[in-house]
Amino acid sequence: MRIGMLTGGGDCPGLNAVIRAVVRKGEGHYQHEVVGYRHGWRGLIEGESMPLSLESTRGLLPRGGTILGTSRTNPYKSDDGPARVKATLARDGVDAVIAIGGEDTLGVAHRLAGDGVQVVGVPKTIDNDLSATDFTFGFHTAVQIATDAIDRLHTTAESHDRVMVVEVMGRHAGWIATYSGLAGGADMILVPETPFDIDEICTRIKRRHERGANFSIVVVAEGAVPIAGTMELQTGTVDDFGHVRLGGIGNRLQAEIEERTGYEARMTQLGHLLRGGTPSAYDRVIATRFGIEAIDAANDREFDVMVALRGTDVIRVPLESGVAQLKTVDQRLFDTAAVFFG
Ligand code: F6P
Repeated sequence: MRIGMLTGGGDCPGLNAVIRAVVRKGEGHYQHEVVGYRHGWRGLIEGESMPLSLESTRGLLPRGGTILGTSRTNPYKSDDGPARVKATLARDGVDAVIAIGGEDTLGVAHRLAGDGVQVVGVPKTIDNDLSATDFTFGFHTAVQIATDAIDRLHTTAESHDRVMVVEVMGRHAGWIATYSGLAGGADMILVPETPFDIDEICTRIKRRHERGANFSIVVVAEGAVPIAGTMELQTGTVDDFGHVRLGGIGNRLQAEIEERTGYEARMTQLGHLLRGGTPSAYDRVIATRFGIEAIDAANDREFDVMVALRGTDVIRVPLESGVAQLKTVDQRLFDTAAVFFG
């Protein structure tokens, strides 16, 4: 077989580990040929590819980012997009595509499957917001980076008697905020799942300080929203998939907290730091297992499926189930973190 592979959407640690695993088993075991498409679906629209081999994918396991490049291109944004994707596949003699991506990339993969393209999906995102899989790779690494940052902010917060606001990515799900806040001992975690009340936050911070604490750590997910009408927020630009660009809530919170409590506050926006660098051991293992399962599925000619982690097993599920619904933070998990709020 000839297998095409692409990485779409925001990059995350572990993408290269999937690429390596697919090539290792695809070429090394099945004797398939693997070709990489550059910058997500854009590579298939524009016909931009690169050969992938055992040789060219050597040493990729610990490397962050993606050697294929990525973009948020949506072929269904233009009338001839899907036809151009199919034309490229026909030109290159590609039998099946392994698409590594999040909700948007896999949503396109599922639509293309409906249009006759043979696709297998691999779920990735630091946001961990894909239903049908317990975890996506990239998430664990992002949580570790955020936790390390929170640990560091604790010591400087303590020295200066400050309230530190830490903004983390995660889009419209609070997984990174909840996990890193729990692991880092945050005094407050704000997530998109529950609109926050700025008055209540300030009351809690004041109460904590009156009880003897001289600093507080507030972790806020970039997608967190205030209760309607309580605080104004800026809105950002939208991408090809209609998603608004998030980021900046931490700044607003820092100003509000400082003004309302009288305590000095500072904001740290972790942003793309959470997506950079080498994947954790855990993410390397899931990414590798996902890559192997994906090439096995393609070899079995089982398409319109994605690989997924369920418990400790890697399984295949219909692609549709992976993109049907946003996976938001489990309330019981959040309640555990909330026991430690100020
Ligand atoms: O989906 C991954 C993610 O990092 C989100 O957490 C964040 O909102 C978004 O991508 C940022 O995208 P970009 O890299 O386009 O700024």
